[in-house]
Amino acid sequence: MPTPSKKTPKKVAKRVTASSRNAKSTSATIETHLHENRTFPPSAAFKKQATFAAAANYVKAGRSPVKFWESMAKELVWKKRWTKALEWKAPDAKWFIGGKLNVTETCLDQHLTNGNRNKVALIWEGEPGDKRVMSYYDLWREVNKFANCLKGLGIKKGDRVAIYLPMIPELVVAMLACARIGAIHSVVFGGFSPESLSDRINDAEAKMLITADGGYRRGQIIPLKHDADVALASCPTIEHVIVVKRGDFLLRFKEGRDHWYHRLMQDADPVCKPTYVDSEHPLFILYTSGTTGKPKGIMHTTGGYLTGAYATTKFVFDIKPDDVYWCTADCGWVTGHTYVTYGPLANGATQVIYEGAPDWPDPDRFWQVVEDYGVSIFYTAPTAIRAFMKWGKEWPGQHDLSSLRLLGTVGEPINPEAWIWYHEIIGGKRCPIVDTWWQTETGHIMITPLPGLTKTKPGSATQPFPGISPAVLDENGKPVKNGGGLLAVTHPWPGMLRGIWGDRKRFVDTYWSKWDGIYFPGDGARIDKGGYFWILGRVDDVINTAGHRLSTMEVESALVEHPSVVEAAVVGIPHDLKGEALAAFVTLGPKQKADEKLIGKLRDFVALKIGALAKPEKVIFAADLPKTRSGKIMRRLLRDIASGKVLGDTTTLADPAVIQHIQRRYSEE
Ligand code: PRX
Repeated sequence: MPTPSKKTPKKVAKRVTASSRNAKSTSATIETHLHENRTFPPSAAFKKQATFAAAANYVKAGRSPVKFWESMAKELVWKKRWTKALEWKAPDAKWFIGGKLNVTETCLDQHLTNGNRNKVALIWEGEPGDKRVMSYYDLWREVNKFANCLKGLGIKKGDRVAIYLPMIPELVVAMLACARIGAIHSVVFGGFSPESLSDRINDAEAKMLITADGGYRRGQIIPLKHDADVALASCPTIEHVIVVKRGDFLLRFKEGRDHWYHRLMQDADPVCKPTYVDSEHPLFILYTSGTTGKPKGIMHTTGGYLTGAYATTKFVFDIKPDDVYWCTADCGWVTGHTYVTYGPLANGATQVIYEGAPDWPDPDRFWQVVEDYGVSIFYTAPTAIRAFMKWGKEWPGQHDLSSLRLLGTVGEPINPEAWIWYHEIIGGKRCPIVDTWWQTETGHIMITPLPGLTKTKPGSATQPFPGISPAVLDENGKPVKNGGGLLAVTHPWPGMLRGIWGDRKRFVDTYWSKWDGIYFPGDGARIDKGGYFWILGRVDDVINTAGHRLSTMEVESALVEHPSVVEAAVVGIPHDLKGEALAAFVTLGPKQKADEKLIGKLRDFVALKIGALAKPEKVIFAADLPKTRSGKIMRRLLRDIASGKVLGDTTTLADPAVIQHIQRRYSEE
């Protein structure tokens, strides 16, 4: 494996402000305990056919990242070529300045004339077993017509459109239709509650909502339109709602505001000319949890994002014309944006989309799908892999998985046992595994093996993608050569976030105030002697549960809304399947009875407010919460208690008796 040039600055200015989110919560370096020595070199057979097999390419890209990205951008469809590749005034990057394009021309139009016209773009399977197959031409027509429907209802370039749909083809169509006319989509995961939906709609001031009558999950119907109606009671900016008919689910229609998707489509003009936008025109907003209660609207733009999505899909997944690619993520998350909608379509891939749960009706549903469609590239999350391990190898054992040739993971660190299980049981020991590190904010994969080139190590995301410059730094910005520290990205990259919607200060404080001009992703990482990156997870108060990143503050805010609760602190605790689960320490108001019944009520309350994914695994009643003298709750001490560790430094505690009381209480649970 060649060593890509790492653009770690020799000297980095000290942290400028103390307002950066981890100012207090991290030490200079991070202690690491995981040391995995197994290595897996690529097989000669894979190497021979790999798209990015030449180490020399890697070195070249490392020497000149901007040139590398330009060469990738040249493979997209542009209306007008850019005049300058990058303008960088930290923290603001502009990529491909002067360029004009419409992403749907790369994702759809080009395939009408390059031999892909009748190629299958989407193979969709609903949870109940219904199926649809769409060619590139089918998808192009659907997107054109739907773009005209949006226009007909007054949506214009720059308007925000919220999308709250199950994983059905119309979700991809809706995203692309927005892009076709230069509107900005904001997809909200269908598992989120009405309140979460209305928060996101209001923050973006969306004019339209696209939803469905319902969706299926574990045999249950998720009443999306019903939930949307609840949300819309407090969303004054929404003018129209388009409803996809997924089933025959009961709903109420509001005359003048609500429209059936299929009715609009019946009368829609078949062709919608693409609206050409500047390379830096916003493509989408996607909300992600932050350390305060309010979710952050991460904003991505057009030319750079598409370049990153296209190039990473091409090389990391080694996509070939005959591959059947399946990324199991929902488009409600960034993985579904980049590696379902934009990356695979830009590459002309054939992909599978599945609506429902992996264990419905049985724990072999995924393997049935792999077998039925001959999936060759499979990308999922460690939390799913751990669930498969728990359900047992007999489930995949019942299926022919020989079509698989490449496996991927994303979303959290994968523990080596799960990696080995994935490699042996699913990959039959022949498939390379790409453990890909990235974030909603980074837009696309940043640290990853390149299949056919990189020697993998279980649990390590390995090396930077060409043209990406991560580093492990200490608090003062000094590079760590071998050991734990804070992950950083020292140079701009095309898919990087361009801001937080409507909140410049938070953008600067969160990502750019730890070091001068260097991006801080908020993760801890270890770098080993070979230059391999081992991601250690979040160093702040965000919990990564079952692949979902939740803000502790959001859950706390929800708990405190309950009439019995006066204060709450939520921490992550290790969990075999979910990676992390939530433990809530709760202080009740006077005369409130602390009993099992209330625990159940509080858990349900959080599910109602945020979604079932945020339900605390444990609720512990505490007379008071440990705080610093300035009144900040010391979550790290609660984390120590909840995960059975020896208490860390307690010297800054305002009242040490509080923590002793909680410890006693916790051991009684
Ligand atoms: O902590 C890292 C973890 O997930 C976070 C990003 O979450 P989100 O924005 O929801 O995007 C998830 C899908 C890209 C990161 O800050 N994470 C993601 N991938 C990995 C990971 N941790 C370790 N290894 C990974 N491969």
